[in-house]
Amino acid sequence: MNDKELAENFDIKRIGQDFLDDPFPTYKSLRNYDPVHLNEDGSYFLTRYEDVVLSFKHPSMSSDKKENFRPKFGDGPLYTHHTSSLVFNDPPAHTRVRKLLSEAFTPRKLAELEPVIEQIIDRLLDRLADLGSFDVVSDYALALPTEIIADMLGVPEEHRHKLHNYSNLILGALDPVVPPEKIKEGHSAVEEFGSLLEELIAKRREKPEAGEMGEVLASLIFGKIEGERLSSVELVQNCIFLLNAGHETTANLVGNGISILLDYPNEMNRLRNDPSLIKTAVEEFLRFQSPLQIGNRKATENVEFGISNKKVVIPAGAFIHTGIGSANRDPEIFDNPEEVDIGRKPNPQIAFGIGKHICLGNTLGRIEGDVAIGKFIKRFPKLKANGEKRFHGRARFRGLDVLPVTIA
Ligand code: HEM
Repeated sequence: MNDKELAENFDIKRIGQDFLDDPFPTYKSLRNYDPVHLNEDGSYFLTRYEDVVLSFKHPSMSSDKKENFRPKFGDGPLYTHHTSSLVFNDPPAHTRVRKLLSEAFTPRKLAELEPVIEQIIDRLLDRLADLGSFDVVSDYALALPTEIIADMLGVPEEHRHKLHNYSNLILGALDPVVPPEKIKEGHSAVEEFGSLLEELIAKRREKPEAGEMGEVLASLIFGKIEGERLSSVELVQNCIFLLNAGHETTANLVGNGISILLDYPNEMNRLRNDPSLIKTAVEEFLRFQSPLQIGNRKATENVEFGISNKKVVIPAGAFIHTGIGSANRDPEIFDNPEEVDIGRKPNPQIAFGIGKHICLGNTLGRIEGDVAIGKFIKRFPKLKANGEKRFHGRARFRGLDVLPVTIA
């Protein structure tokens, strides 16, 4: 298939293994030949940077999913969860919850969290050093964000092993096609995790000054803005959302970052020789392999997208897939976008989205990426790949299932 045919034949609901392994050639043909692509189900896929940014910033673009989720989830816990989390709400509900939740992400709170993150990472690295060879994804990248969010919320040690599974079941229910038993498991995961959080919240209410653990949870329980607090449902459901939002995304950043350095030994050496490059390196990992590749919006009015001879009006009511991963490789914005340059400047990548829903955890995600990748390559100077890596089979998220390495 030539480039033009690749674009013409693309359909978001008929994605094949080739696309999952390497979506970037398809993104490139879509940007060149059909940047506002109409799918068979009437939805659109945007792949140019300017269009993706417009879709995130335009006031007529909605994130509210109540209509879409009702037939999928009925009235059950998954419906309550996904319709209460701020990412699937529009103003004014979104603005109110975002303000209250922001209390947990102030620069002071994040500065307090940084030593905790360093300790967690040092502990994980000590364990890996004893192993000799291991899988970066399951033994490191995935373990890290779960530990951090568990600390933020004060989840006791004995419950932590359940969090990864809760997150998978709750997020898995958002896939385009979900078997009924998976929906049932998703409902149970919201219920179980919800009850655990309710218990933690009740204990914390009894003892507001209960030590260092769960400081973020405490600021969400007691934080007030203009006399307002989060309701009980908002509090529980948005805590669940924090686990989900910061879990697979951060793990993907860490796994992808280490994998990119193994694929580009010159960039690995550059970073080893000048560790101060870690901040621009993390921006480049976020751009080159964006952990969240495809977002979404719904048009509430007709809006025009595209360039000069390829303008398309997306009609009110249409569903839009926003190609973050493609935007981050748009040659109109980035010089040599298919190459990795860990010192790239400027780097206006939009892996955290942009506009009013821009990732609330973006500073935290960046700190986790800096510390986790920086310390990892410093600790293991003889790091080598040790077998086939494999990307997992989900188009919206870009991350590895396995990345086997040896450190001896
Ligand atoms: C590298 C890691 C991460 C990436 C790539 C990422 C990506 C994103 C993106 C693209 C959005 C925007 C969604 C939209 O506009 O529809 C978003 C929203 C959000 N993220 Fe992240 N995220 C990351 C880490 C985190 C972490 C660590 C947390 C918190 C623990 C977090 C919390 C949130 C929240 C609360 C929102 C919703 C914001 C809103 O709707 O106003 N994220 N994230």
